Amino acid sequence: MRPFHFVGNLKMNPISSAAADRYLSGLREGFAEGLPEGVSVSVAAPFIYLERFAEGLPEGVSLAAQDVFWEREGSYTGEVSPAMLHDASVTLVLIGHSERRNVGRETDGETGKKVSAALSAGLRPILCIGETAEERDAGTESDVLDRQLSAGMEGVVATDADKVIIAYEPRWAIGTDRTPSLGEILEARVVIRRSLVERFGPETAERIPVLYGGSVKASLLGETCFGADMDGVLVGRESLYPREVANMVRMLGEKAAGR
Ligand code: PGA
Repeated sequence: MRPFHFVGNLKMNPISSAAADRYLSGLREGFAEGLPEGVSVSVAAPFIYLERFAEGLPEGVSLAAQDVFWEREGSYTGEVSPAMLHDASVTLVLIGHSERRNVGRETDGETGKKVSAALSAGLRPILCIGETAEERDAGTESDVLDRQLSAGMEGVVATDADKVIIAYEPRWAIGTDRTPSLGEILEARVVIRRSLVERFGPETAERIPVLYGGSVKASLLGETCFGADMDGVLVGRESLYPREVANMVRMLGEKAAGR
């Protein structure tokens, strides 16, 4: 049985090292009794606090970054390479988050380069895909998911495919308090699974976790994750509250125990 994944995305928070330390101490308190079986937990921190998080995260919680560049080193002012992240104890990295794709800052092709580079450095990419409200209104959401998935997985060989985690995050549900219906999530899941099967075959595709993200909170885990048979959640704003992180992870653990 695949584990559930809980990925917290702190975005551009916390805003000081003191606040980061308070957050970390809240998390350690929340997980004082350890992590439940069957749930893999990670937190994506801003670059500047990665080392602090590497030291301060509760035992068993993995460190993720929120982006990465595709080159290893060189004249790329402001960028951070996969090798640097690896060296900073990062094990997972968000790629193609909608807040980075927004207004064309990050293209489909770039997400593919980032996924390949992350894998080569031994990082686990979390490839975020999802349609805008306009694309859904136009009925093109399946094509968009297919396109983003194909581009993101372009350079991934079958033996590496199950190291990638896919996060379905409709853009209109991120940061908005609007979530898709169960039917909409199920449809997206089918499109994603079909595309993964076509690319990697059924056995490998089956091992690739597919998460839901966008306005997730504890009270919505049933609809957005369990009901839609997703492999976990990518949580933004609610992950800023250590107690909520611990609460959602506990719920995922209870569900995992009953599977
Ligand atoms: P949200 O963000 O939970 O605040 O909507 C989701 C995300 O950042 O992926």
